[in-house]
Amino acid sequence: MKLIRVKDYAELSEQACAYFMERLAAISNPVLGLATGSTPEGLYAKLIEKYNNKEISFKHTTTFNLDEYVGLPPEDVNSYSYYMHEKFFHHIDIPEENVHLLNGVAEDAKKECEAYEALMQKLGPVDIQVLGIGENGHIGFNEPGTPFSSRTHLVNLNESTIKANARFFDSIEEVPTQALSMGIGTILEAKAILLLVSGEKKAEALARLIDGEVNEDFPASILQKHPDVTVIADEAAFGKVRRK
Ligand code: GLP
Repeated sequence: MKLIRVKDYAELSEQACAYFMERLAAISNPVLGLATGSTPEGLYAKLIEKYNNKEISFKHTTTFNLDEYVGLPPEDVNSYSYYMHEKFFHHIDIPEENVHLLNGVAEDAKKECEAYEALMQKLGPVDIQVLGIGENGHIGFNEPGTPFSSRTHLVNLNESTIKANARFFDSIEEVPTQALSMGIGTILEAKAILLLVSGEKKAEALARLIDGEVNEDFPASILQKHPDVTVIADEAAFGKVRRK
């Protein structure tokens, strides 16, 4: 695991963008695994800048998003589909047919997950997977206890995740209690993983990721075993890390 320590969120976003620019230069038809949440917003904004400056094009890029809330249609402002289009896809030249998100309102969730897996097998593997981390160590929506071998699946969200994500909704009652998420096994098939960690709230999680054991109780810990993981974290997030 390569650790990059940066001063603050602005620098984190710049470094994440630099990572993308360097890696994408070497891939002609990239497949990207994308994440939502507040952490990657700065990265998407920086990549849009690069696109506007004609330094990069996404015409030949394919994307797969990590997860989606169950019960929210794509036009719902809190759906991850809406987030991705608002914050990234609408501002770049990616063809809509290259964009893949789990359908949170699919009639049969199991079938939806299987079809997503099959599509990833067909179009993948993912070249670069962006990840954030939950305060409880979740990656995607894989909560503590999820098997490391898991594939794309229906998830019951933990109380703590519902609380943490309530800030995006008008009230906590509106936060969906279930989600569809790539499994941990699915995520690990990406050739390279970029984990972004920002702020004091994530300090405990980053310390456990770096100093702790690999254990299914802490989903992100499996990243220690992946051959190409880069972690970019700011000083506030590094606050509790012991390893030099
Ligand atoms: C959400 C998402 C994750 C994300 C995490 C952290 O629950 N499902 O993919 O990484 O929370 O979000 P944030 O970056 O807003 O802290």
